Amino acid sequence: MTTRTLPCSRMIVALTGFMGCGKSSVGRELSVLLRMPLVDLDKYIVDKAGKSIADIFAEQGETAFRDLESEALKEVLDNNRFILSLGGGTILRPENAALIKEKCTCVFLRATVETLRLHLGGDQSHRPLLKDGGFEAMLAERTPIYTAAADFIIDIDHVSPMQTAGIIANLIT
Ligand code: S3P
Repeated sequence: MTTRTLPCSRMIVALTGFMGCGKSSVGRELSVLLRMPLVDLDKYIVDKAGKSIADIFAEQGETAFRDLESEALKEVLDNNRFILSLGGGTILRPENAALIKEKCTCVFLRATVETLRLHLGGDQSHRPLLKDGGFEAMLAERTPIYTAAADFIIDIDHVSPMQTAGIIANLIT
């Protein structure tokens, strides 16, 4: 883990981690705590495309979704000083990871399989990648990628989103 931080005037805090780790809820808390706007990349994509992520996957396929995601990332990273909740797969494309490394302080919200299962619950109709199982294999494959991208890693098991936001605020300010 590195401890690189960006000058305050350029600060973008990007939250990464597997689906269900709490990127959106921690992002909301951090946004209040640091008084910085929140951009939720999934929401940005949905607003721009005018349809849900599940519909984008079903109608256009995953590659098209990833293209929209990369395009959305480039657009939002033209701004400064905000909290960015990434999608769980955003960091997987090397070009996205490079952009995030260049422009953001990246925080990996790490969680155990048990915590993720608890957070994800039963209904995963809005998360197309979880429809067919394979969750643990996907997590094992992605964990080294989240780790490599992270300036900071926070274990979020047994920690509330508000507490996690407090930890992040202390680390970066
Ligand atoms: C994805 C995670 C989702 C969403 C899409 C793909 C992934 O975001 O971007 O379903 O590849 O992990 P969340 O991590 O916010 O659920």
